This record gives sequence, C-alpha cells and structure tokens, in this order.
Amino acid sequence: MEENIRINKTTEDDGVIFMSVKDEKENDNNTDVVKSTDVTILAIESSCDETAVAIVRNGRTVLSNIISSQIALHTVYGGVVPEIASRKHIEKIDYCVKAALEEAALTFADIDAIAVTYGPGLVGALLVGVSEAKALSFALDKPLIGVHHIEGHICANYIENKDLEPPFVCLVASGGHSHLVVVKDYGEYDIIGQTRDDAAGEAFDKVARAIGLGYPGGPKIDKAAREGNPDAIEFPKTKIEDAEYDFSFSGLKSAVLNYINGLEMKGEQVNQADVAASFQKSVVDVLAEHALKAVKEYGYDKLAIAGGVASNTALRERLEKDCANNGISFYRPSPVLCTDNAAMIGAAAFYEYKKGVRSGLDLNAVPNLPLGERERRFHANK
Ligand code: KG4
Ligand code: ZN
Repeated sequence: MEENIRINKTTEDDGVIFMSVKDEKENDNNTDVVKSTDVTILAIESSCDETAVAIVRNGRTVLSNIISSQIALHTVYGGVVPEIASRKHIEKIDYCVKAALEEAALTFADIDAIAVTYGPGLVGALLVGVSEAKALSFALDKPLIGVHHIEGHICANYIENKDLEPPFVCLVASGGHSHLVVVKDYGEYDIIGQTRDDAAGEAFDKVARAIGLGYPGGPKIDKAAREGNPDAIEFPKTKIEDAEYDFSFSGLKSAVLNYINGLEMKGEQVNQADVAASFQKSVVDVLAEHALKAVKEYGYDKLAIAGGVASNTALRERLEKDCANNGISFYRPSPVLCTDNAAMIGAAAFYEYKKGVRSGLDLNAVPNLPLGERERRFHANK
C-alpha cells in the first residue's frame, strides 16, 4: 500500500513545507466517468500546525491531497506555538484550496460539499479552516459539514482499504488523544478506553525533549530507537485496575525523567538510542496489549490504527505480527495519512453527508469537542 504513495515536497522561503500527496495506483484507476450519484467533497483541516486541503470522491478516492506543514517553524520553540500556527494558516489556506482544485483538475462547480475540522484542536488554528469553509459554503451555496478531527483520523483507514467497513476496533493515538474506540457503524463510536493523563504522542514529544532529540518527538524517537536496545532499561507499564482499557503515560514519562536525572547526578552519559528504544517499547507494549484484548473481548476480527503515533514503525510491526497470530485483520493508513491531513476529513464527511448531516453557517470552532457527540447547536439542516 505505502509503495503507491508519492509525496512531492518543496520548502518555501518561510520554511513551510508544501506537499502534494498522490496515490499512484488510485490515479491509474481514476479515469472513470463521473456518475450523477458521485459525491465530491472539498475538505479542510487546520486544527494544529498543518494547513491541509483535499478533494475526496465517495469517501474513499482521493483526487488531491495538499498539506502545508509548519513543523520546521515550530521546531525552534520545541513545540507548536498557537499564534504562529494561526497566522501561517491564514497565509496559506487560499493557496492550498487552489492547489487542491488544480491537482484534481476540477473547479468549484464540480464540488458537492465543503467539509472542515471544527474540533478538537487549537482554537485560533481551527477558526481559520472553519471561516474558510463557511465562506466557500456561503459564496458557492454548497452544503457545509463540520467534522470531528479524531473521526477524521479513524476514517483515514477507509482511503487505502476499500473493503474496510464497520464494525471494528480502532486504536487512536495522536498528540492530543489516546483512545480505544469501537467503530459500531459509520459515524457511531463507543469509546471503551482513553488516557487518564498524557496522550501517547505527548509522551513521545516530552521524552524526546528530555533526551535532547527535540521536536517533533515521535518521528525522532522512532528513528533513534532503531539504533538502540529496547530491553536496555525496564520502564514501567501502567495498568489501571478499574478500567482495563484506559491508558496512563505520565508515570512512564516521569520514570524516564528520573532515570535521566539519576545518570546526570552521577555524571554519566545518557544513551539516547537505548532510552528511546526502551521507552518506545513500553508505549508500544501497552497500546498493543490493550488493542488486542479489546478486539478479542468484544468479539471483532478487525483492528485499525489511527493518528500520528500510528505511523510509528515499532507499533505497526508489533500489531502486524500480533494480529496475524490471532486471526485478526489489521488495517493501518500510510504514514502520511496517519498524521494530520484533509483527505481523512473528506472521508469522514462523506458518511456524514450520506446521513444528511449538514452544518449551519453558525458553525464555530470547538477546541474540546468530544468524539461521538456532535455539537447539535451548530447543525441546522441546510
Ligand atoms: O495526529 P497528529 O498528526 O496530530 C494530532 O492530532 O495530535 O499526531 C501528532 C503526534 C505527535 O505527538 C508526534 O510526535 C506523534 O504524533 N508522531 C509519532 C510518530 N510520528 C508522529 N509518534 C511516534 N512515532 C512516530 N513515527
Ligand atoms: Zn491529528
């Protein structure tokens, strides 16, 4: 699957990386005549530090996928600076919309609906995408569909796995969330486990900073861990007695910090690769054990993963093996569809569109939007 994905990347004068993501296999097959029943959605995502616009047909065919990544701008500060993120989104968003249409060789006349992430995320960042989507919906008189960011991450799995249908279990692990979700049907979710403190991606970012790898932590730990010994240091794996599917990563993070402080007090060097590999093993063990247990106990035979941490090499390898050994079908998006993008928002929006969900022009950004609980006050039928 991944081998079909081609990413054209250019770095702009301001340090922002402009990417056009293409699935070459998809483009070969995409010479079909457009049917009157086809639904073509222009989707926008701006909840954190990626300004992303994609055009998705029928929820699973990505006609264009543009990602303008600010990651290099935030690296110098060791994390995302919300105000810088908002300002860059406002500069880039129109250009991304234009690029998405050009890449798909479409005009606004070919678009059936406008979709946008309206939460959770950074409020100032979300507002840019929401305002853009509302302006397009109003000016073009096309329906507007507000999408939950995590629902988008889950739906990224539909893009490359045309046969995947609910029900299945999905492990969502990103910078802000660690959720175990039963996807009962399109748009219907039961959260069976979640983090009590830090999200998995947050733990990767904090540990990376502590061992001097910098931001963004996840990919840097992933890379460093390949040179290290995962059994070098025994870090704790927190289990929560009364909620077997919940996660807790702050104890693990503190254990790594204590380990580093201990070495520094003795004047000893920290072996970055060993710490990275041992920390990563603890996270991967917990995520994989919980996910496998949930699939078995709930009686499903499909496991999907989603969110930035789902691009982690060790997690993917571990789950690939565990699922194969247990007769479970394993689904994971290509890494570029695990991290923030708008194709996943277009995929999620299609199933909402089919159900008749429409957002009103009073749609607002909701920084703490809970999964599965649509903010009905913003969803007047259009
Ligand atoms: O889903 P995402 O792009 O944004 C959020 O919605 O949060 O996830 C970003 C998070 C960051 O914490 C980043 O360090 C982590 O995903 N991440 C990874 C990897 N790539 C990104 N964590 C572990 N291994 C990776 N390869
Ligand atoms: Zn995300």
